[in-house]
Amino acid sequence: MSATAATSGPIGLRIKPTGKRGSTNTPNPDLSHNIILYVEGITKSFDGFKALNDLSLYIETGELRCIIGPNGAGKTTMMDVITGKTRPDTGSVWFGQNIDLLGLTEPEIAQAGIGRKFQKPTVFGEHTVFENLELAMASDKSVWKVLFAKLTAAQRDRIHEVLGIIGLSEHLNAAAGALSHGQKQWLEIGMLMMQDPLVLLVDEPVAGMTPQETERTAELLISLEGKHSVVVVEHDMNFVRSIARKVTVLHEGHVLAEGSMDEVQNNPQVKTVYLGE
Ligand SMILES: Nc1ncnc2c1ncn2[C@@H]1O[C@H](COP(=O)(O)OP(=O)(O)OP(=O)(O)O)[C@@H](O)[C@H]1O
Ligand SMILES: [Mg+2]
Repeated sequence: MSATAATSGPIGLRIKPTGKRGSTNTPNPDLSHNIILYVEGITKSFDGFKALNDLSLYIETGELRCIIGPNGAGKTTMMDVITGKTRPDTGSVWFGQNIDLLGLTEPEIAQAGIGRKFQKPTVFGEHTVFENLELAMASDKSVWKVLFAKLTAAQRDRIHEVLGIIGLSEHLNAAAGALSHGQKQWLEIGMLMMQDPLVLLVDEPVAGMTPQETERTAELLISLEGKHSVVVVEHDMNFVRSIARKVTVLHEGHVLAEGSMDEVQNNPQVKTVYLGE
């Protein structure tokens, strides 16, 4: 692991970091201050254009946060920075009090407990729903080995539990490729959950879904709240309203407003730049 012990910690709460990491390969984040993600002063330029411009935001442990904002506001870039896909020019990103995410590689960040769902489902089409979850649980990604290894009772229980959460218990033997677009998206959320991430980042989960699938996705994401911290980026305002607790509005790579859905929708600046009023 390339991370070094924390020497400064997040600045947001001005607390002394513990500077300790877990003894295992994947450190446990110190969540003693109830903040699981600190994004602080992040700037990222592409060819001189600031996709993120001094972006700071804080995600509480177990919260369900919606991030909205016009096209090009920097929402996906923000997720790229948190997951280590993109390196920022300035700023810091902390996972709890003690894990400096900018010191970790993309796979290390995933292993530390930050899962990401991209817009396009990436399920194994020829394998069944159950097998997809089985594959997602394994650290050894050799399909052959995984599918021929015997599952423990606990692993089997966990797969069935996740099948229930994602609403695919009745489809466990269906080929993933035969699922509807919405079901594939849920399966992919289930595959992420097999890794037991503390944080789930979900970019435009309901794009292309039917209204019924959208509603079911809202229930699914709400059901994850508490056990996981979930950050949802979405353009569908009816959907956002249906799941919204705290909403963050990004504009030009910066937080424009934050609050309840009503608060941000009634914010004059938000109306001007985003809602087109
Ligand atoms: N790899 C890159 N190279 C150059 N420019 C990029 C790159 N990634 C993002 N950008 C630019 O950064 C800005 C922010 O893009 P980003 O994808 O983060 O926006 P977004 O809020 O996710 O938008 P959308 O709602 O359309 O998905 C855009 O102007 C985009 O063109
Ligand atoms: Mg985007």
